[in-house]
Order: sequence, then structure tokens, then C-alpha cells
Amino acid sequence: MEWKRVSVIGAGQMGSGIAQVAAQAGYQVVLLDTTEEQVQAGVKRIADLLARNVEKGKLSAEEREGILDRIATTTQLEEAAQEADLVIEAVVEKLEVKAEIFRRLDQCCPNHTILASNTSSLPITEIAAATKRPEQVIGMHFMNPVPVMKLVEVIRGLATSEDVFRLVVAAAERMGKTPVEVNDYPGFVSNRILMPMINEAIYAVYEGVATPEAIDQVMKLGMNHPMGPLTLADFIGLDTCLYIMETLHEGFGDSKYRPCPLLRKYVKAGWLGRKSGRGFYQYS
Ligand code: CAA
Ligand code: NAD
Repeated sequence: MEWKRVSVIGAGQMGSGIAQVAAQAGYQVVLLDTTEEQVQAGVKRIADLLARNVEKGKLSAEEREGILDRIATTTQLEEAAQEADLVIEAVVEKLEVKAEIFRRLDQCCPNHTILASNTSSLPITEIAAATKRPEQVIGMHFMNPVPVMKLVEVIRGLATSEDVFRLVVAAAERMGKTPVEVNDYPGFVSNRILMPMINEAIYAVYEGVATPEAIDQVMKLGMNHPMGPLTLADFIGLDTCLYIMETLHEGFGDSKYRPCPLLRKYVKAGWLGRKSGRGFYQYS
């Protein structure tokens, strides 16, 4: 059976990007968030990015309209669930929130629906255990910014079936991505390696080794990273960075993954990076 409908749960920076690439791939998309305001903010992000692509001559105005027409919105989970072939969840990086969404999706979705999580670090096996269809639950980890980055880490839970894995790999490829299979361990591959580097950069600020600007310069000019680690942390979201470090710390029980106290302090202050207007840098 060929998939037609993809629902995306969470219309933040990742969910809106996933909805965009899914609609670009020709899927009928339903994008959900908790409030109409959040959903519309997600749709605006997509519309603005597509408008820039039209200005650059990468897309025609008709193609832009076609992509936007394929994205419906809702704030009701039942509505997002009822006809979906594939659901991709991209809400806050908290196990209890994701597990509750998967529990409800399991009740509302047709039997054939595959449930994927865009989690950065949380155990797919545990998310799957909240449902009665663990063989149809899988990790589909897109990178930020979704329309630009090629990688999707595909993570099998303990029970994920071979057919489901193959269908999800094909869907990622249809969205123009390169899927890479990884096993279900905290942070998978991407964040097991990336996030300790970011956390270490935050420790370097905390211990007064250098300013955020200097640290970012060192990593950009010295290691050819496209963004310095603190600019990248602000871009990802400091709340997400903290939750990933907490998952690594708890999951491995190893003190090398302890989150820097400065990261905790910023998140408690509401300094979440670019999305809140302030993190290691200020954004106006
Ligand atoms: N959304 C969509 N498109 C964007 C974008 C955004 N936020 N930012 C930039 N782009 C697009 C631009 O429109 C431009 O497109 P065209 O080539 O079609 O013109 C292209 O990206 C390049 O942009 P710029 O020339 O303006 O800027 P740049 O060359 O500095 O590239 C970047 C921007 C691609 C974001 C680059 O800085 C980069 O690769 N940064 C590192 C990103 C990264 O490491 N992502 C992974 C984060 S970790 C993660 O995602 C996993 C997790 O679980 C936390
Ligand atoms: P975000 O804060 O930009 O967006 C999260 C969205 O989820 C918000 O719009 C919020 O209103 C919504 N939400 C929260 N609870 C919800 C619920 N119960 N039902 C429906 N919507 C709900 O966060 P983000 O950066 O888009 O991250 C989302 C997920 O993607 C997280 O699991 C994160 O770890 C993962 N991720 C993030 C990045 C990144 O660079 N930011 C990269 C890859 C994966």
C-alpha cells in the first residue's frame, strides 16, 4: 500500500520543518500543536521559507501554493490521527509527554498507522511500550534545519518490525533525506557525540576559559564547523540541549555526561536560545 497521509505532532521548529519536507514530497500533511496560535506560527515559518525559495528561483509560485495546500492544521489529536498512514511526533523532549501522546495515538489511529518519534535522545523502546503496537513504533530523527540537513537517523525499538523499518527508510528517502540506521541507546549516535561537545563548550564559558564569541570562533575557524557550539546550542534550543544531556546522564549513569550548571541556570531563567530571544547570545 502506498502512503498518502503524514501527520506531524508538534509545530515547533522541527515539526514545521518535517511538515514542509513531507508536503514537498507530495504527502497530504496534517500539522498539530496544542493551540491555534502555535500551529499558525509553524505554518508561517513554512510559508516564509517557501517564499524565500520562490525569490531565489528555486521554486515556482504555483509549487509553493501546492505545497501549502497540502498542509492542513488541527489542534485535535483525533483529527490528526484518524486517516494517517505515518505519524511523526516532534513535541518537547520529555519522555512522559511523548509516552502520553503515543498512548493516545495508538487508540485513535487506524491499525496500519506507523508511529514515529523525532526524539533526539529518548528510548524508542520505552515510547513504544506506551502503545499496543510496539512493532509499528520507530525513531525518525531529522536534523535541524530540516529542509537543509540530509540526515535522518532511523532507530529501531526492540520490537520494531523489519517491514516498518523498510517503509520508514523509503519515506525518509522520498522526503529527500539520507537515512542511517542506528541502535536504540541514549542520544543514538548524533547526540551522543554532538551534545557532550556542546556541554563542554558551556563548561568552558562557566569556568571562564573564554567568552562565547571566542569559543565559537575557535571551533569555526579552527575546526571548520559551520556554527560554533554555543551558536548551535542557541539554534537547537537550550531546553532541548539540557533534556538530551539529562537523558545521556541518566541512561549511561556516567558522570562524564553531567549537564553544566550554567546550562541548567539559563533554562530555569527561560533563556532557551534563539526561540526565546536570548541564550548565549541575544536575538532581536
Ligand atoms: N531553516 C531552513 N533553511 C535554512 C535555515 C533555517 N533555519 N537556515 C539557513 N537555511 C538555508 C538557507 O535558506 C540557504 O538555502 P539555499 O542554499 O537554498 O539558499 C542555506 O540554508 C544556507 O544558508 P546560509 O547561506 O544563510 O547560511 P549558512 O551557509 O551558514 O548555512 C546552516 C546555514 C545550514 C544552518 C549552517 O550554518 C549549518 O549547517 N549549521 C549547523 C547545523 C547543524 O549542526 N545542525 C544539526 C543540529 S543537531 C540536531 O539537529 C539534532 C538534535 O537532536 C539536536
Ligand atoms: P520546539 O520547542 O520548537 O517545538 C515543540 C512544539 O511542541 C511546540 O510548538 C509545543 O507547543 C509543542 N507541544 C508541546 N507539547 C505538546 C503536546 N502535548 N501536543 C502537541 N504539541 C505539543 O522544539 P523542537 O526544537 O521542534 O523539538 C521538538 C522535538 O524534536 C524534541 O523531541 C527535540 O528533541 C527534537 N529535535 C530537536 C532538534 C533541534 O535542533 N531543536 C533536532 C532534532 C530533534
